[in-house]
Amino acid sequence: MESLARIEAKEAAEAESASAAKKAQQEAMQAQIAAAVDAAVAEERAKASGEASAADAGDTVGANIDWSGVNSVDMTLFYPGQASFEFVQNGKQHGGARPLTKGGDQCTTCHAKELENIGNKIVKGTENTEPTPIPGKRGVINATMQAAHDGENVYFRLQWPDAPHAPAPFVDGGKMDPENQIKVAMMITGTGIKMGEQVGCWATCHADNTYMPFDPGPEAIAASGDVAELLKAKESIQKYLSETRTKIEIKGRRGKAQGGWNKLKSAEEIDQLLADGTFMDLMRVYADGSATNGYLLERRVQNDGDIAASAKLSAGMWTVVFSRPLTSDKPGDVPLEAGKTYTVGFAIHDDFSSARFHHVTLNTSLALDDETAQINVVGR
Ligand code: HEC
Repeated sequence: MESLARIEAKEAAEAESASAAKKAQQEAMQAQIAAAVDAAVAEERAKASGEASAADAGDTVGANIDWSGVNSVDMTLFYPGQASFEFVQNGKQHGGARPLTKGGDQCTTCHAKELENIGNKIVKGTENTEPTPIPGKRGVINATMQAAHDGENVYFRLQWPDAPHAPAPFVDGGKMDPENQIKVAMMITGTGIKMGEQVGCWATCHADNTYMPFDPGPEAIAASGDVAELLKAKESIQKYLSETRTKIEIKGRRGKAQGGWNKLKSAEEIDQLLADGTFMDLMRVYADGSATNGYLLERRVQNDGDIAASAKLSAGMWTVVFSRPLTSDKPGDVPLEAGKTYTVGFAIHDDFSSARFHHVTLNTSLALDDETAQINVVGR
């Protein structure tokens, strides 16, 4: 009887939280529609008064691609809070740790269908993964992705609905990055990264990065001397690959800090990783349509690989298009070749956010002219 009562109480609580989630979803949808209507009205007014909206400028990237004929893939980007690479590997913190580290499961093996639940839960604040929630922030972004190539360049087109502003209570003015209402990032997993194909972006996301639980802070960074200099770090630590450290603390027993920011390998070892293709290719697009190309290794490095982009907000919908050569001889660019399948990940920094306050995909497969990949980059 007692256990039956427990189950009934649990079911009632679940039903209640499901109905609360539904209500929140409906409210978010209504807000989205209202924002879209406002934006459309503003755009019409601007047109009528002869002003072209600034966001309409520079839409030449991918102009040779007829997007209407390119399949679109639904992508759910969820809010991950502080769930780091150490967190997901630690059995005390994460239910999937063992199948992930010992069984070869991918994040999507378990989570592909429940990203709405995870994102909506974490964004409201949780004991272990979100100590500083942003009230009113959405838990998921439903985006669509189209990808094409013309034999020379690859083109990505990402679209998602804008949302009303939800100020971050822990920064003056509520905007972490006031210059950029949005940013888009894409990572492509290089070779020889431990669990790289299973975890996508998580290979670079550590418990001691900026705004993460073991962020060492400026004093400890300054006290690290050489390490701070090599990492070009002052305030906090950027993303890095575990392969560039001699030790990464995962268990965190007896209050040990998780991560390994200061356990840097030698410059020779890191150069060798780069030469071997062991890095995460990283492309970033900013709200004004500017873009940077680079990679993640011991820190974030910008390279001079080609990249072009455009970003625009129209009728409540963001459209970001970016392009780079399929193959490039720049160190830190993963060449994209037919017949190979790549693991990629996308992040959207929505609503003037920065650092970890983004929405992300789990591991996502990508290939050229291959319908079995989640993102099929079609020849046009
Ligand atoms: C074998 C299945 C499995 C795999 C593989 C797995 N997880 Fe999990 N994950 C779980 C379980 C079980 C939970 C706990 C569910 C709950 O609390 O409702 C969980 C919870 C989470 C949470 C929620 C944490 C919170 O605060 O509620 C996040 C985020 C997460 N996993 C991310 C990942 C990522 C990223 C990967 C890949 C690197 C991954 N998981 C791989 C099973 C898995």
